Amino acid sequence: MNILLLGSGGREHALAWKMTQSHHCDQLFIAPGNAGTAAFGNNLNIAVTDFDAIKAACVTHQINMLVVGPEEPLVKGIYDVFQADPSLNHIIVVGPSKAAAQLEGSKAFSKQFMQRHGIPTAAYAEFTADSIEEGRRYIQNHPLPIVLKADGLAAGKGVVIAATTAEALACFDEMIVGKQFGAASEKVVIEAFLEGIEVSVFALTNGEAYHIIGHAKDYKRIGVGDTGLNTGGMGCVSPVPFMDAAFMKKTEDRIIRKTVEGLAKEGLEYHGFIFFGLMNVNGDPIVIEYNCRLGDPETEVVLPRLQTDLVALFAAMDNGTLEDANISFDERSAATIMAVSGGYPGSYEKNKPIQFPPKELIPKDSMIFHAGTSQAGDAVLTNGGRVLAVTSYGGNIAEAVEQSKSVLAQISFEGMYFRNDIGFEFPC
Ligand code: AMP
Ligand code: GLY
Repeated sequence: MNILLLGSGGREHALAWKMTQSHHCDQLFIAPGNAGTAAFGNNLNIAVTDFDAIKAACVTHQINMLVVGPEEPLVKGIYDVFQADPSLNHIIVVGPSKAAAQLEGSKAFSKQFMQRHGIPTAAYAEFTADSIEEGRRYIQNHPLPIVLKADGLAAGKGVVIAATTAEALACFDEMIVGKQFGAASEKVVIEAFLEGIEVSVFALTNGEAYHIIGHAKDYKRIGVGDTGLNTGGMGCVSPVPFMDAAFMKKTEDRIIRKTVEGLAKEGLEYHGFIFFGLMNVNGDPIVIEYNCRLGDPETEVVLPRLQTDLVALFAAMDNGTLEDANISFDERSAATIMAVSGGYPGSYEKNKPIQFPPKELIPKDSMIFHAGTSQAGDAVLTNGGRVLAVTSYGGNIAEAVEQSKSVLAQISFEGMYFRNDIGFEFPC
């Protein structure tokens, strides 16, 4: 099978690493990829939303499977574009239809979906320019902290947790009146703040059957001790100690099964990953958000722990045999730590040469996934805020973290920073 993978982050490097272990994978192409993915296939200089160029590449390279890493092409309808084209509709697209991708593409849609299907989530209301006075009153009467969310995609910046009413009112006006995120903040969801520990759970579904393929805890803040600005994710650990059989059962019974059944009932076509962003509130899972893709850096710990052939799973998802698939996991813990550019998540410089340790000094149970890199001759340069994700296995989380830190100690680039406390709640 020839596979085209869309994306250029650590998630895609991990997907490339995992998919090329399958004997079903003949040739892998990555658009646009990064310096790391180039070791597993051919990078194509095509943007993930350039549907015409993607379609042409699928014809040229006789692609049988399109695996979509990031959300943007899904929310823009790449699945539907392939379905509608008789020369491309034989290609297995791993990702939901445009209508179903609204689970991530519209916060209001996902909240309404959860209400329709009795899926636990924070209480909320939604407002537009037409209901701005109502929105202001809603904020004034709401307990603090209060959460404001731009309805549409906002590059991970559309959520504000306001500690004061004044801050919430200012953010609300900035989103709706100031059009802070353009069309994405024409509608704003305001919801109750949930107190608890976050966990990300991943399922693969064809709209009928589903399998949980892993879970992880993401560390989103830039600073040690979960302080400072939010980022795309500074590190992840898996498995998460509180994800025991009882919590997992509640998650399946109250959330995952109801979501898959809801999609089917509403005729929302879904052949891909569902990312359940959950809060563990006193032992009960509550949905914070859905994403229609794998997480980054969650993928960099989830796929190393997944022993099942991922390409075979995608084929099973397509041919109706997903239910029969056996999912097995590596019993070891995995931890990934992101090395980021100085200044991230604010402004940062690119094109800094990266020094790597010689291959023989990298422990065999550690992997360096590239997140934002480019190749320039023999040199690998930084090419993003998040640059590398170093994943290690360990007997427990603390061991895995320590090993990733020892690999990071041998890597350098100007301005490099990483959190040295990933997994801090799980000391042994
Ligand atoms: P989202 O884009 O919806 O994932 O939100 C980004 C981050 O904001 C989440 O990962 C949480 O850390 C936080 N967050 C979102 N909604 C809530 C909520 N209702 N209560 C507490 N934290 C939240
Ligand atoms: N790490 C969070 C995300 O991928 O959305």
